[in-house]
Amino acid sequence: MNFIGIDLGTTNSVACTFQRGDFKFLKFSGKVLLPSAVMFKDGKIKVGEAAKNFSQRYPNNVITSAKTYMGDNGHFWEIDGRKFTATDVAAEVLREIYKSARKFFNNAEEISAVITVPEQFSANQRAETKKAGESAGFTVKQILTEPVAAAIAYAFGNSKPNEKIYVVDLGGGTFDVALLEAREDDYYKTLIQGGNRSLGGDDFDKALVNIMIIEIFTNTGVELTEAEKSGLSPAQYSTTIQKIYIEAEKVKRALSNAESAQVDIKNLFPYKDGVFDFHMTITREEFLKEISQYVQEIETVIKNSFEGTEFSAADVDRVILVGGSAMMPFVRECVQKIFNKEPYSIDDLSKLVAMGAAIFADDTLGNGIEHHDIISHSFGVELVGKRMEKMLLQNEEYPCERTKTFYTVEDNQKAVRINAYEGEDTEEVEQNRYIGGFVLRGIEKAPAGKKIEIRFAFDKNCILHVMAKDPKKPGVEKEIDLTT
Ligand SMILES: Nc1ncnc2c1ncn2[C@@H]1O[C@H](COP(=O)(O)OP(=O)(O)OP(=O)(O)O)[C@@H](O)[C@H]1O
Ligand SMILES: [Mg+2]
Repeated sequence: MNFIGIDLGTTNSVACTFQRGDFKFLKFSGKVLLPSAVMFKDGKIKVGEAAKNFSQRYPNNVITSAKTYMGDNGHFWEIDGRKFTATDVAAEVLREIYKSARKFFNNAEEISAVITVPEQFSANQRAETKKAGESAGFTVKQILTEPVAAAIAYAFGNSKPNEKIYVVDLGGGTFDVALLEAREDDYYKTLIQGGNRSLGGDDFDKALVNIMIIEIFTNTGVELTEAEKSGLSPAQYSTTIQKIYIEAEKVKRALSNAESAQVDIKNLFPYKDGVFDFHMTITREEFLKEISQYVQEIETVIKNSFEGTEFSAADVDRVILVGGSAMMPFVRECVQKIFNKEPYSIDDLSKLVAMGAAIFADDTLGNGIEHHDIISHSFGVELVGKRMEKMLLQNEEYPCERTKTFYTVEDNQKAVRINAYEGEDTEEVEQNRYIGGFVLRGIEKAPAGKKIEIRFAFDKNCILHVMAKDPKKPGVEKEIDLTT
């Protein structure tokens, strides 16, 4: 059997195997990072660098950062009359990896894969990822969470017994943090998790784009904030914006290594009788000023992740940096300030997650690994007055279950509606995510204040079982299973 670990990222995907004591990365057009970009055009599909390169010429045919919408089947891209969901896009990226893996394994067809997902992915998002992997041709051995994969890769050859590892993963689209306990005997337990699902490299690109758009306006009077205001044709406008984004990303990388960077875009758009060549210098200081709210948010997310838990930053033995955006010096500085320690990192921060997945995928290395996961958001039941009572708590290890007693509010109440929500707001239930509910009918006639038992159970497949019963009247009992 052939094994592979895949980090299916928002911006880049990485595939890795472990062979004869060494990590081997699959290459795509000679590179380890496969951009998670897919182009659909004239019935043909291009994936990765090729698709990314066409994003300027055919901006409406190229899909990027689709992972942000994983599991949201109401969201789709319509291209040439066909509709594509995030699962379809993931399947194409994975198919490209499968093709390359087959070559790598001498045309083997049966390839067993471990695919990573953010800790905060719901059961549905995990199931969609698995589906994408299977439709690409892989036997999906397991869906593993990214911080766990990073911790496994770090602990491989590094960890001391019973270390508490804090993973800071700042990628292209998401920011994830997690505290894990790693033991010598290959036991991993997630203790805390947190993050911001829509904070990452894309936001930093956008900040640089803003700086550039202002400079362009100052130089030319051309307003690029909206197509209508620019005076360019729709095609010219989207090509211009694409060019600016691509340059912004390059400048951002350069600013990780230098105090200032040069913007150079030739022939940006038609201007007066010729074209506009755009040049400017951006300093790290200007960039940091533009992204100050994100810098603050990163610090807040880390600090808040400890709130309401028995752990604090002082309990952390090791901090690991993961994700391409963690290459930005301010991330390291921020982490160092909070934890008072030098974080651990490898040269290329985009590779660590795939390496952990590769170890986990490997039959001999991976089978001994025991992993315990935690609930990412609390589950609760709606109370009168649009409030919520938490039943299962954020950061609680699962599988788990809890039964609580509630009371009817009216005399001779015949039925009670049970609504399950996911979230942390106990005062306003509607601030949380509704997952499902039902009506329990036929309860015994009694004055208000009659007991009703409610049980919430979260199983290893991330299915939430919600049960309610009248403890005094046998048979008045109902249960539903909710995919969260
Ligand atoms: N040297 C660098 N300096 C700043 N940013 C960088 C650097 N190298 C890569 N990046 C950024 O890192 C991001 C990609 O990181 P990575 O490949 O870890 O993300 P991902 O795994 O695809 O995303 P996610 O984890 O959010 O799903 C991009 O936004 C890229 O511009
Ligand atoms: Mg990532």
